[in-house]
This record gives sequence, C-alpha cells and structure tokens, in this order.
Amino acid sequence: MEENLSVLMRQLMEARLERVHTWLPAKIISFNAETLRATVEPTIKKVVGPDGQEIKLPYPLILVVPVDVIKTYNFIIRPPYAKDDPVTLGFYERSVEEILQDIKQRDPKFSRKHHLKDAIVVQGRMTDKEGKERPAPGCWVDQLIIHRRETGTVVRITADGDIVIQCDPAQGVYLGPGPLDDVAPEVVAPYQMIRGTPHKAWVDAHVHGGVQPGGGVTGPPVTPSPALSKHVHVGD
Ligand SMILES: [Fe+2]
Repeated sequence: MEENLSVLMRQLMEARLERVHTWLPAKIISFNAETLRATVEPTIKKVVGPDGQEIKLPYPLILVVPVDVIKTYNFIIRPPYAKDDPVTLGFYERSVEEILQDIKQRDPKFSRKHHLKDAIVVQGRMTDKEGKERPAPGCWVDQLIIHRRETGTVVRITADGDIVIQCDPAQGVYLGPGPLDDVAPEVVAPYQMIRGTPHKAWVDAHVHGGVQPGGGVTGPPVTPSPALSKHVHVGD
C-alpha cells in the first residue's frame, strides 16, 4: 500500500514537472525588428510519459515571444536576429500575456505557471559546432566590440578608451547623414572626407600658378587636392 502511494506520488510529481518550463534551447524562426517579438522553435524534444515508456515529441512553434534586448524608453541596441539563430528561452513563472502589454501592475489573467506561452528570448547562443567552425574573435578580449563576422567590420572601445572603427576597403565608414535605408547613396556621396594627413600634406606643399610679384591675386593651385576618400564619409 505504502509502495503504491509512493509510486503514485512520484508519477504525480513527474506529470506536474512535465508542465513546468524553466529554460529551453531554441532557434529563431522569424523576428519582427519593430515589435521585438520572435517566432521560435525549441531545439530539444519534450519527453512525456512514465519511466520506461517515455515518448519524445517535438515542442510546437512558440509565437510572438518577446525578445530581451538592451533597451530603455529612448535607447536601444538591437541585434539583427535572423532565422536559425540559436537562442535560449526563459519562462516567466506566471502568465504574462496581459502583463506584457504595458507597465501597469495587475493580476495574471490565467493560472498557468512556467508555461510555454510565457516564454522570453533571453540571448543569442553559440553552438559547439559554430564555435569550432565560425568562432567569435579571439582578439580584443579586453575591449567592448560590435563585430560583423562576415566582413570583419568592427567598432571597438579599447581598454585605454580609444574608439576604433575598422572595416574592409570594400565597406565605408559613414559619419553624418546616411546611409540609411531611405537615403539614396548619391545623397551621401557629397560628404566624402578629405581631412586628415593627406589633406594637410597637400595644403603644406601646394603651389599656385600665375603668381604676380606684388599682385593680390593668384591662379589656382598647380597640383590638384587629394582625391576624396572613397571609404570615409562625413557630413557638414
Ligand atoms: Fe593655396
């Protein structure tokens, strides 16, 4: 009798635990960059049923999951989550379906706990396979970096406090207007930068033609000024 009770208790607890979600590995199916919500698919199977008779089932897609990014009311750092990005899901301890609408304090609408419907995408995550085939940069380990892995483009704040912006010659560093999606490249082009060492060297050494002794007017410089940078663009 006692043994039966203990088996029953155990089965009840197991059945209950099956419905309690804490953390799950998942991947992004789609990401809405405006609402910061994602559709995600857990990358582990759900194990249900009593010991020895377990069945492994895929979890369903989880829709409209909030994505935890660094943001305040006025500022945001938004990673460009895309299909198949591995992430971690956390699960709120109570129903947040209504709670997430605004910042008002109120009762949870439903009694569910740690439910799949109350997931949040916590962070991007690297798989072991990706870590081997496509590791994150092993340099700049004491620096804050924003790094585009395909092109090598990086914005870094060094331990000394320098700000470094580096990119491949095929890319450009833009300061000032554009290039935003809604600004055509030709709008940006007039702002190309010629300042810096090449410009100073030219100013220091350039010679004017048509100089008249005692005259107040010169001709234009004999040598043309350095070409505009194709890579650094700056607004007025
Ligand atoms: Fe001059």
